[in-house]
Amino acid sequence: MPFDSYYGVFASRHTEEVSYQIQEALGTAEPQDISEAELSSLEGFDGLVVGAPTWNTDSDEQRSGTAWDDVLTDISGLSLSGKPVAVYGLGDSVGYGDYYCDAMEEIYRHFKEAGANMVGHWPTDDYQHSGSKSVLDDGKFCGLALDVENEDDKTEDRIKGWVAQLKSEGF
Ligand SMILES: Cc1cc2nc3c(=O)[nH]c(=O)nc-3n(C[C@H](O)[C@H](O)[C@H](O)COP(=O)(O)O)c2cc1C
Repeated sequence: MPFDSYYGVFASRHTEEVSYQIQEALGTAEPQDISEAELSSLEGFDGLVVGAPTWNTDSDEQRSGTAWDDVLTDISGLSLSGKPVAVYGLGDSVGYGDYYCDAMEEIYRHFKEAGANMVGHWPTDDYQHSGSKSVLDDGKFCGLALDVENEDDKTEDRIKGWVAQLKSEGF
């Protein structure tokens, strides 16, 4: 089923580039920077794909280091009951291999608290990190982890595979 009210939200440079690749693969609306978005407007969409880099290495809170950190509490208070939401993250699995894409899980958790139906868990096979807070109890990443610094040759196929999965999970 076409998903005409998808909304992509990003926060910074590589993350923005990827948002357009995901938009193209999903065939839907224009991504927006979270720092410019009216948060309550997120409630009006059929589904959301949200992306963030990790800059605040080894932080428990405010892991992204971007505008996401300022809105996490407010996101938990939104009414997103049953809405499909998928998270992707940008990180460096070599330079910051113990903390790879840590911010993804924090964002995932806040959207889940808002009642969203979190989709897009992704296998950790074929990654070279040694640690990540974004690996869930099921052994998968809570969303799509991308490393354009070291593994950009894999980005396109990863996005393709993930988007196909999202389409089978409610998008
Ligand atoms: C100061 C600094 C700290 C970083 N810390 C982490 C980290 O803890 N974990 C990680 O996976 N990547 C880390 N990175 C890598 C970035 O997340 C990565 O370069 C990403 O592609 C940046 O995306 P952006 O251009 O959208 O900000 C760090 C990068 C910098 C410059």
